[in-house]
Amino acid sequence: THWKHGGIVGVFGYGGGVIGRHCDQPEKFPGVAHFHTMRVNHPSGKFYKADYLRQLCDLWDFRGSGITNMHGSTGDIIFIGTTTPQLEEIFYELTHNLNQDLGGSGSNLRTPSDCIGQARCEYACYDTQAICHTLTNEYQDELHRPAFPYKFKFKFDGCPNCCVASIARADLSFIGTWRDDIRIDQKAVKAYVGGELAPNAGAHAGRDWGAFDIQKEVVDLCPTKCMRYEGDKLEINTKECTRCMHCINVMPRALRIGNDRGCSILAGAKAPILDGAQMGTLIVPFI
Ligand code: HEM
Ligand code: HEM
Ligand code: SF4
Ligand code: SF4
Repeated sequence: THWKHGGIVGVFGYGGGVIGRHCDQPEKFPGVAHFHTMRVNHPSGKFYKADYLRQLCDLWDFRGSGITNMHGSTGDIIFIGTTTPQLEEIFYELTHNLNQDLGGSGSNLRTPSDCIGQARCEYACYDTQAICHTLTNEYQDELHRPAFPYKFKFKFDGCPNCCVASIARADLSFIGTWRDDIRIDQKAVKAYVGGELAPNAGAHAGRDWGAFDIQKEVVDLCPTKCMRYEGDKLEINTKECTRCMHCINVMPRALRIGNDRGCSILAGAKAPILDGAQMGTLIVPFI
């Protein structure tokens, strides 16, 4: 197979969005002589209505292989497998009748991607969907016409749980955070210790791990060792806390993110094949 991100095949006016795939032995495998992938720009937070998804699937059944990937690691809706003559037809249908657009591929701005954010998640420290949508519109030219030496990604996570893995996978990562104290409900802490509340919201309840041990499972696992549990009271030294989310994830009914919320911006994360994963570097601590 020969492959390339953008460039060898595409739609008029765009340099990205279509990932060309050609088979080296088309005589032997005519069904996959071309098998191009199209990236379709997913909506922020990946919210759809069923009829919209049906329209996309019908289009792809009609003009492509019918195989989709919801969603690629890039975030996009991935249409896998079509032929060159179908590309413009699909593009026309997407942009004229489905109110939709292609995403990024090749050396351009890749489709910006965000977590589900404030729509559903109480940990979201800023409106990930608003910024994802705004920057997608702002950088349309960069998104469709490759002008960079390599791909460039924005990703938006509402909190350090990093559901879209921005810290490891985006050239510019936006991660929600807060400046004040983690809010502690001491009564609920006691309920976790006493076994009335299930740690991790019951996520690991299928096996017998023994009684919940707040020292072992929370305090000792705090990466900056800034917590202590003494005399039935949990304390956190906010100055040392890196907002890693671990304690909050284990005891969500007892611990809540602070109220003074914003966003940290990091640059430089990549997962290049030769060098391995590289984490982003913090450039703006709080905005
Ligand atoms: C050893 C060979 C291959 C390697 C190391 C490789 C590696 C990769 C990498 C690193 C990406 C992500 C690139 C990016 O986001 O810029 C990617 C994406 C992709 N590759 Fe490959 N690839 C290989 C062969 C193939 C072949 C033979 C096909 C199809 C016939 C293919 C189909 C795809 C598709 C469809 C995507 C995009 C998927 C998505 O966005 O969800 N790859 N590949
Ligand atoms: C049969 C083996 C493999 C298959 C089928 C495969 C396929 C893929 C696909 C489909 C993606 C998702 C691309 C996207 O959505 O952006 C991907 C990502 C990636 N793959 Fe592989 N891959 C294979 C082996 C490898 C190997 C051996 C390496 C490294 C030596 C590698 C490195 C990567 C990297 C760096 C990414 C990008 C991850 C990210 O951006 O999150 N892959 N691969
Ligand atoms: S990254 Fe944080 S705010 Fe966004 S969905 Fe995940 S847990 Fe919620
Ligand atoms: S969020 Fe992380 S660093 Fe902060 S107190 Fe909890 S476990 Fe420690």
